[in-house]
Amino acid sequence: MTHQQTAQQAGHDDGTRAEELSRRFAEVYGHAPDGVWRAPGRVNLIGEHTDYNDGFVLPFAIDRAALVAVRLRRPDGAGHDGDAAAAGHDVVDLASTWAPDDSGLTRARFRIADLVPGAVSGWGAYPAGVVHVLAGLDGVEVPGFELLLDSTVPVGAGLSSSHAVEVATIVALDDLLGLDLDRPAMARLTQQAENDFVGAPTGIMDQSASLMGRTGAALFLDCRTLESDLVPLPVAQHGLTVLVVDTGVAHSHADGGYGARRASCERGAAALGAASLRDVPDGADLTGLDEETARRVRHVLGENRRVLETVERLRAGDVRGIGELLVASHVSLRDDYEVSCPELDLAVDTALAAGAVGARMTGGGFGGSAIALVPAGHTEQVRTAVAEAFANAGHRAPEVFVVVPGEGAGRVR
Ligand code: GLA
Repeated sequence: MTHQQTAQQAGHDDGTRAEELSRRFAEVYGHAPDGVWRAPGRVNLIGEHTDYNDGFVLPFAIDRAALVAVRLRRPDGAGHDGDAAAAGHDVVDLASTWAPDDSGLTRARFRIADLVPGAVSGWGAYPAGVVHVLAGLDGVEVPGFELLLDSTVPVGAGLSSSHAVEVATIVALDDLLGLDLDRPAMARLTQQAENDFVGAPTGIMDQSASLMGRTGAALFLDCRTLESDLVPLPVAQHGLTVLVVDTGVAHSHADGGYGARRASCERGAAALGAASLRDVPDGADLTGLDEETARRVRHVLGENRRVLETVERLRAGDVRGIGELLVASHVSLRDDYEVSCPELDLAVDTALAAGAVGARMTGGGFGGSAIALVPAGHTEQVRTAVAEAFANAGHRAPEVFVVVPGEGAGRVR
């Protein structure tokens, strides 16, 4: 089976996957779940390292998703004293087929009353972080529950596999507990889980794309107000596909590089007398900044402009016309922001030379994936060229697959 077929099936088979997950849930926990919820990964079309600068982003949800089957723990009759912790009803059981050990299942267990950052490690930290922030809300009591996770979002590919788990967990709990949180609120809460519990100082783009993405569209998001608009992204109608090149180079936003870029931006904004780089006009005089900070700031100002221009071109129906903006974004991330790596640069250069109309790294960088906007007839040519270029350079073979703008998070069954 080709990667392309796998990716397409991932989008259309969520009903079947949910059924399978329910069956597995019953094997693991001995009874049926209350329901199954899904949350997709994302590709960022353009607007990189702008979210934590209160800027603009244009990501889309992809046709690969995390699924969670969940069942709330119910008082067994003895626990109606209102003290869930004392009665043992605040126990959360997690199991995952997503990052399996030899048993084919990884598991974690904790009590909500004991949750502090660092208490749960590995993939379990994502649902645990969500529980932690929800339990901290006024008037919200989170009971214990059982959860089984499965995901088709590749781990470490820079396609927000971890945010998909957080978002799937929050939409499930919101639904089951009748919290009625709106999507921007869920985005802020999952960001808080990521920042305060998981310990990664990331922005709000990834969760927003997973929560608010729609089939056939990109999400134009103002990260300051969280106002958003869907922008049609009819790639197929324009004879194009979006290819992802997963370089296999591991990245982690809990590592220093991401935080250092963030700190540079804050320093730059402060030196320019602005609350954030969003308030610095494009073309502002940067000569008072040190050379490195000036380059970081220049990237952010230029990237916000490129997002606005991309939205304009898409709204005018000029899908091919966004190609040059993707390339300009990559060059800026490579040279000014310095978050690319040799594998990402090679993927971009090779895709362009093999016929892509645009290409860039996507996500935080330092590894992960690049995307290429490719005329449908050139897809195999680009795929082969990238595979050969990686082999010639002695890099590990990349995963290359097609993604389509898919539906945001919700209940599956
Ligand atoms: C990661 C973060 C996002 C964003 C991007 C860079 O994906 O999770 O919040 O900052 O990097 O654009």
